[in-house]
Amino acid sequence: MTIRLAVLLSGSGTTLQNIIDHAERGTLDAEVCCVISSRRNVYGLERARKHRIPAIEIPFKDYGDSKAFNEAIWAEVRAHHADLVVLAGFMSLLEVPPDFAHRIMNVHPALIPAFCGKGMYGHHVHEAVLAYGVKVSGATVHFVDDHYDHGPIILQESVPVLGEDTPDTLAERVQAKERELYPRAIQLFAEGRLRVEGRIVKAL
Ligand code: GAR
Repeated sequence: MTIRLAVLLSGSGTTLQNIIDHAERGTLDAEVCCVISSRRNVYGLERARKHRIPAIEIPFKDYGDSKAFNEAIWAEVRAHHADLVVLAGFMSLLEVPPDFAHRIMNVHPALIPAFCGKGMYGHHVHEAVLAYGVKVSGATVHFVDDHYDHGPIILQESVPVLGEDTPDTLAERVQAKERELYPRAIQLFAEGRLRVEGRIVKAL
């Protein structure tokens, strides 16, 4: 079955591009039904338009409070009949409506529960990893709950942290791992193979 993905982002959309490429190549049983950005004029919206995918701006700044912002997001997700919501560099806290529990995924560029939570995104993560001196980092795909980077973990794999790494070289290694893991997790969902028991996700 081909599932419908609503992709939420706030930036350049390299994660979105990877998902579109897999879907178009036929290596993912999914189509991106809409892209929603919490920031104006980001390149992720342009990428969507290039593939004739509806590109919607819901700028967080335009909403007085997070409740109204969330209502606007969920109205679009529902209008496009999404089966799964995919966060792809989305920098706002999403409220999870009960019917979307375990139907929202996020990718985080570290091994959760380390180096995650509010303020830990993109390069901040890799800088913190290098400053701490850990010898491995990695990528985590997880279901989203009401806390930053917290819900049940679907897939997680490590990469080495090398002595000569800069935030950029480490980011490149971690993002290569993200590009591998995210489509795999989405495909498991599309095939109906994910079961969640408390914090534990089983891939059948
Ligand atoms: C990705 O590396 C993703 O892991 C990270 O933001 C980047 C988005 O890149 N997400 C987080 O840090 C979430 N806490 P993109 O905008 O080019 O897709």
